[in-house]
Amino acid sequence: MNPLNHVAIIMDGNGRWGLKHKNSRNAGHKAGLITVENIIRETIKNKIRYLTLYAFSTENWRRPKKEINYLFNLLENFLINRIEDLNNQNIKLKIIGDKNFSKKLNKLIFFSEKKTSKNNKLQINLALNYGSKFELINSFKKLSKNKERINEINFEKYLQTKNIPDPDLLIRTGNTKRLSNFLLWQLAYSEIYFEKKLWPDFKIKDYNRILKSFKKIKRNFGSI
Ligand code: FPP
Repeated sequence: MNPLNHVAIIMDGNGRWGLKHKNSRNAGHKAGLITVENIIRETIKNKIRYLTLYAFSTENWRRPKKEINYLFNLLENFLINRIEDLNNQNIKLKIIGDKNFSKKLNKLIFFSEKKTSKNNKLQINLALNYGSKFELINSFKKLSKNKERINEINFEKYLQTKNIPDPDLLIRTGNTKRLSNFLLWQLAYSEIYFEKKLWPDFKIKDYNRILKSFKKIKRNFGSI
């Protein structure tokens, strides 16, 4: 059976779900947060050490302002209301992405990361204002500035995911088959599952179905 240390998820389909059920994309984001909570709980139950969630990409700034504001409000409230409980559950929270937000959100992120920094049951990496191409270019720039040898070990030192093992498994919900500038380096050998259901419809039984199937795959990392 394959060890499963790290699951990464592209939580796609909120907008379509919201339009279909409530005539509002934002209602889909609100419903998506319930799925986030369920998946966190089930990830702990499955004794998985790392969960990376794609919450906002560098390209998502192209959305209407009303939707962006709604999403950031949801995120702020999540940090304000849930950090105490996450901390009590021994969960570490890390934000990956370009942390260039409002003063209020930057402060909240700093506080949340610091408060949970010593926890070790589950590490949640929340990808916020994250873009893989930006991350890769940044890493090359740092290598070049420090005149370091170009090799995998040096390169990975400057990634946002430094010290985080690569995802074993990537799940993308929402019936779309693309990577959307997410963890392009780190996903080199991950198993990828494209799920038809929209994120708010993605239930614990769907998650467990994928985890079970992943465990049976023969992973050979280029060998035979
Ligand atoms: C993609 O669906 C989803 C997002 C851009 C936002 C994800 C946010 C959440 C799940 C809620 C907040 C999460 C946390 C952790 C506080 P989409 O809007 O692109 O859907 P569409 O493809 O149907 O338009």
